[in-house]
Amino acid sequence: MKLTRIEPLADNEITFTFDGKVISAASGDTIAAALLAAGVTATRHTPVNGSARAPFCMMGACYDCLVEIDGVAVQACMTEALPGLQVQRTTLSASIE
Ligand code: FES
Repeated sequence: MKLTRIEPLADNEITFTFDGKVISAASGDTIAAALLAAGVTATRHTPVNGSARAPFCMMGACYDCLVEIDGVAVQACMTEALPGLQVQRTTLSASIE
């Protein structure tokens, strides 16, 4: 499914990488929103059977959006996309505190 931004990226565009691919985002976007807008359809694979998972709830409840930043699993829907971030698909599990 191709998503379309309501407003095109303009002066507030930033970039980060996801598995080495450059992703454009608007300043203030979450990582999950930017990945979905860029057409990324799987952000992780389950450790149980390897099935692909992608952001689902977009509000921090399902953990299907986990990605890895600097060796730490984070929820992409709860994490702001910042310039220069190096984000990767993860096989890590979340640490729920
Ligand atoms: S999409 Fe559900 S926790 Fe991020």
